Amino acid sequence: METIRTDCLVIGAGLAGCAYAHYASKLGLSVVLICSDELSSGANSQWAQGGIIFDTSYHPEQLKKDIIEASDFTSNETAVDSLVQHGQDAVQALLLDELDVPFDRDPGGELKYTREGGHSNNRIIFSKDVTGRAILSNLHEHVLSLPNVAVQTGMVAVDLLTLSHNSVNPKDKYEPITCIGTYALDTNSGEIKAIIAKKTILATGGLGQIFQNTTNQLGVVGHGVSMAHRVGARVIDLEYIQFHPTVFLKKNCPLFLVSEAVRGEGGVLVNAAGQEFMDTQHPMKSLAPRDIVARAIHRELISSGDNCVYLDISSRSPDFIKDRFPSIYQRCLECGVDISKEPIPVAPAAHYSCGGVYTDINGRSSISNLNAIGETACTGLHGANRLASTSLLECLVSAKLTAEADSLDVASQAFHLPEVREWRSPDESPDEVLIRQDMKLIKSTMWNYVGLIRSSKRLHRARRILMELDDEISEFYAGNHLTSSLLNLRNAVKTALLVVYAASLNPTSKGCHYVAFEDEEIDMPEPESEELLK
Ligand code: SIN
Repeated sequence: METIRTDCLVIGAGLAGCAYAHYASKLGLSVVLICSDELSSGANSQWAQGGIIFDTSYHPEQLKKDIIEASDFTSNETAVDSLVQHGQDAVQALLLDELDVPFDRDPGGELKYTREGGHSNNRIIFSKDVTGRAILSNLHEHVLSLPNVAVQTGMVAVDLLTLSHNSVNPKDKYEPITCIGTYALDTNSGEIKAIIAKKTILATGGLGQIFQNTTNQLGVVGHGVSMAHRVGARVIDLEYIQFHPTVFLKKNCPLFLVSEAVRGEGGVLVNAAGQEFMDTQHPMKSLAPRDIVARAIHRELISSGDNCVYLDISSRSPDFIKDRFPSIYQRCLECGVDISKEPIPVAPAAHYSCGGVYTDINGRSSISNLNAIGETACTGLHGANRLASTSLLECLVSAKLTAEADSLDVASQAFHLPEVREWRSPDESPDEVLIRQDMKLIKSTMWNYVGLIRSSKRLHRARRILMELDDEISEFYAGNHLTSSLLNLRNAVKTALLVVYAASLNPTSKGCHYVAFEDEEIDMPEPESEELLK
């Protein structure tokens, strides 16, 4: 078995993982960054549309207030303070000064600002409706040029290595649980490699693909959460799954996100009869925090029997729409909807995990030398519901603070990094039909029983289905050689169970976790298409 050794192992190549590689490399650490696909695909941050908070007339107290209000007053203030303290400088130094990301500017060269749900002023900078792509294409190029960063694509993390479980020295089991890297599947050769590291950083993104309808990229099933949980790390707040209110939904068309910035620029939610329905729900109407808008749409769908509502941006001129939202305009047009003339059919879909691997603000999990950053981590910043456009900012800040803390540790501590046991795997190839069917069952169970509005009966049913499936999948996993789809399935069922456990243990409706009254109707809308976001 090939073994690779490094100071820092980063698992995931979204904004958090790549930003960590940048900061750690600047601090003189060696970094191996692994990701399952090409750098330019896979990660959710690549597809982020809205923008990132950065405001030259910065009011940290106001931002703090908005984050806490959006969270339904459940955020961890220490985490909120850290974000508002470090976010502004991180955007300036990395995105504006170092990478010169092409954010939209007015003719005088000043940054343009937009607004999203829950924000009390226009403080979000953006690059058209492809902010994630604009940031990451520059950052990927930058990371590939760093001399002490080795990027390995086509590598899927399998299981975290710990001293107690994987060392060849039996006496190491008496050590406290300490992470020393990961086994990783090289999807090109089919070989398993051991990557041994002083610090392991989980930056695997969220978990939306455990739900039938989602804005998340394929394969985003909570790999970090599931792997961390297997070695005994604390995971928290997993019941708080944020559903994005406006995802394009039309028969025989793929689902895709319609940015909240469309509402920020004047888009209004209406029902099939063209009537606004948010004005009776919240003073911020269509721009209320996401959990409120998503549930209001859901209730509207239940009462009307329709499976979508509409987002109407026709108050803006066609030229403005085409210039400000070129990608959304084009994708809708390909599906037969000209958004400069007609409203966009939308419905909520799973979007963001506010919970994750418990960490402090420096990325430390409950396991020594195992860190988590970005969406994989849960510092409590978002509490029960995330404020829009905080996620890219959190990726930068968590990456920076974690790299700085790691650099201090690496300079001052001794690390015991022994040889690890060989990986053994059966020769049998897994049956892809079984994998696909099991994945479908996980996603439909989560969608129907663990969706926007939950009940204890449905959570109970979901738990029983998923527990049985988990047993089947564990047996199947042990009897077959590894493929990336089998690893997805194994992590998906574990993550789904963790979400269901968290939801079942919390009877209190807050933010994204809403438990129905006894007689409340709670059906999730039927999906219009089998095809998911690519
Ligand atoms: C959006 O553009 O609506 C998504 C941005 C976010 O999730 O913060």
